[in-house]
Amino acid sequence: MTMQIAIDGPASAGKSTIAKIVAANLNYVYVDTGAMYRAVTLAALETQLDLNDEQAITKLLPNIDITFAPGEPVQKVFLNGQEITAAIRSTKVTENVSLVSAYAAVRTVMTELQQTIASKDNVVMDGRDIGTTVLPQAQVKIFLIASVAERAERRYKENQAKGMQTSSLADLEAAIAKRDYLDSHRAVSPLKKAADAIELDTTGLTIQEVVAAVEAIIATALK
Ligand code: CDP
Ligand code: CDP
Repeated sequence: MTMQIAIDGPASAGKSTIAKIVAANLNYVYVDTGAMYRAVTLAALETQLDLNDEQAITKLLPNIDITFAPGEPVQKVFLNGQEITAAIRSTKVTENVSLVSAYAAVRTVMTELQQTIASKDNVVMDGRDIGTTVLPQAQVKIFLIASVAERAERRYKENQAKGMQTSSLADLEAAIAKRDYLDSHRAVSPLKKAADAIELDTTGLTIQEVVAAVEAIIATALK
């Protein structure tokens, strides 16, 4: 069996930042499952579908091919061969991704794709349902959390650093809280800590401190 490290948690808890560093240090493949749900959302928006129309989005799924390529500072993401790395981070996609990702057919197709990737390579995979649904047999499961206020502040600073137009701190906090609620309350594989996951509260911790804590958890789990 391949090695599987699952990192779940709410928006802006630091999952992708930490998962990417840990994967590089272990020489594992990093899989950003949030990017996949964002890609489906972008595809539906580009096709001008009514995002409340679950059937129309389900029909779109066979026409969606999502691939990744190495890139700095973030992995490159492609939709049917077209690069969408920046496009999937738009406010419009962020506002709608929790609606689209709640559809059962979307989750089935994405879960299969994620399981196929993890069956071929050792992975560090981040998302919301990796430890519970996608890779229930993962050798290591970590659930990263941080206060909503700190997560909004992290996103605010990130937007500023990227030179992106950013919503106010209060709006970012409200948007994150809304997404937390939707992701945790949907019927199919909601955001939830797996019973055997180790929770790590990263509030007040630097990236380096979180990486060290996660690597210590991995070392203990694999001993
Ligand atoms: O980076 P950020 O925390 O903003 O979110 P993301 O990891 O890019 O995920 C975007 C959205 O995709 C989440 O808010 C969820 O609605 C959905 N998602 C999911 O449902 N299941 C996953 N395994 C990963 C993401
Ligand atoms: O993937 P997820 O949405 O959980 O979070 P992320 O995109 O990895 O992190 C959101 C922002 O918080 C990024 O700008 C990170 O650099 C930052 N961050 C931080 O300041 N301190 C941490 N301990 C972890 C992440």
